[in-house]
Amino acid sequence: MKIFGLRLIVLLFLIVISCLVAPATVTANVTQTQLDEINQLWQSSVHARTEVNCSSCHQDPDSQKLVVTPTQETCRSCHEYAVDTFLLGKHGVRTLEGMSPLTPSLAHLPMKESAMDLQMSCNTCHDVHAVNTSQAAVDSCLTCHNDTHSLNYKNSPHAQIVNLASLPRPDQKAVTCATCHLPREKVGNSILVNHNNTYVLLPRDRMVRDVCINCHGVEHAYNSIFDDNLVESNFAQPPTLKMQTFQLVRDFEKKRSGKAK
Ligand code: HEC
Ligand code: HEC
Ligand code: HEC
Ligand code: HEC
Ligand code: HEC
Ligand code: HEC
Repeated sequence: MKIFGLRLIVLLFLIVISCLVAPATVTANVTQTQLDEINQLWQSSVHARTEVNCSSCHQDPDSQKLVVTPTQETCRSCHEYAVDTFLLGKHGVRTLEGMSPLTPSLAHLPMKESAMDLQMSCNTCHDVHAVNTSQAAVDSCLTCHNDTHSLNYKNSPHAQIVNLASLPRPDQKAVTCATCHLPREKVGNSILVNHNNTYVLLPRDRMVRDVCINCHGVEHAYNSIFDDNLVESNFAQPPTLKMQTFQLVRDFEKKRSGKAK
């Protein structure tokens, strides 16, 4: 605990020094108040509890130099799956290809006017100092997304199941934006979040297999996911679509068991 307090002071010192020495190369002036806030967010985070300190992210392990703005490469040493999957989806692929990060101003889908210049990174959904996940699962998405489907989520039956604000982490019962679009996957012995936000959209029924059938029957799930109006309402009612395949299977079964008699 003592060592770790010392490290914090060293880092603060480094940050202050670097602000004085090279004001142009350091990001926006960091005030004492901002530092206090950052420290407080970090202290209540999972990282503080697992001894992931300021220096774990803000000090280059090889050169020991201060890193003012760490990127996803810093997270990679401990969260490889999250980083790899993030970079493969629409949210991250521009970064993977060395372009400027995705911003809502580049989108064709409707986005919030106030979010147009937000740059997509790990920090956009998780405050990297608080590393929250409940806030990341719905509220963060809605700082940018502004289409009817997204906006209808908050009034949907799924949104009523759990009160996310009361949870440090979305639980097994929760159906958040992330449950469907950044699904949890079994990776080795762990359950990790697949951050590729394109993966479950193609083909469309991949989401049935990876997400819906954890809770719903196959027929209910298929009839829901191919019903465009229901998707638009963010699954506000039971499906009205009746996919023929299921009726064909039932007819076939009836015929087959009829013959057998
Ligand atoms: C899990 C990794 C991680 C830890 C731990 C961490 N930081 Fe950061 N920090 C980051 C990242 C990433 C950014 C850049 C955020 C961005 O994209 O703007 C950042 C940004 C900052 C900034 C610049 C903020 C700004 O507005 O420009 C300061 C100052 C800072 N951190 C201080 C700290 C202090 C002090 C601690 C310890 C109490 C700490 N950080 C712990 C990852 C971390
Ligand atoms: C030195 C290792 C290390 C680094 C670097 C690191 N983390 Fe973590 N992180 C952990 C550990 C340990 C946990 C807690 C156990 C777990 O969930 O894997 C954790 C948990 C998390 C969680 C889940 C929080 C929760 O409530 O369950 C998020 C989100 C997260 N980290 C994001 C990041 C981001 C973003 C970065 C880079 C800016 C980063 N981490 C850098 C070790 C690290
Ligand atoms: C589009 C929003 C979004 C972005 C961008 C994002 N995350 Fe996440 N992340 C989430 C949500 C939401 C959860 C929790 C989902 C759940 O528990 O069902 C999560 C969970 C996590 C976890 C804990 C679960 C696990 O798989 O270990 C880690 C660690 C994590 N994110 C790291 C990162 C890192 C590193 C980046 C940057 C490469 C990143 N996240 C970018 C939304 C995001
Ligand atoms: C910084 C703003 C921002 C945040 C935060 C954000 N997104 Fe996005 N998202 C975008 C942009 C921009 C696109 C690209 C849209 C386009 O090209 O029309 C996108 C695309 C998507 C797509 C479509 C992917 C594809 O391949 O077509 C999905 C699904 C999505 N986001 C879900 C989410 C979810 C779920 C969250 C929260 C966990 C989230 N987003 C958070 C900006 C954001
Ligand atoms: C129960 C699952 C579920 C939930 C919850 C959910 N979505 Fe979706 N989302 C879908 C399905 C299914 C589609 C349609 C895919 C298609 O058209 O191929 C979709 C489409 C999208 C798209 C458009 C992708 C495109 O390229 O047209 C975005 C953006 C999106 N969702 C964001 C969100 C956000 C943000 C939330 C939370 C506020 C959310 N979704 C909640 C299942 C869900
Ligand atoms: C973690 C469990 C869970 C997951 C995953 C889940 N749902 Fe749900 N869903 C529920 C619960 C619980 C309700 C509320 C049922 C009620 O109100 O009677 C519900 C309600 C619905 C409803 C509207 C009401 C009804 O009874 O039909 C539809 C449509 C629906 N879900 C479709 C889907 C689709 C499609 C997916 C996958 C993209 C999905 N759900 C994923 C648990 C889940």
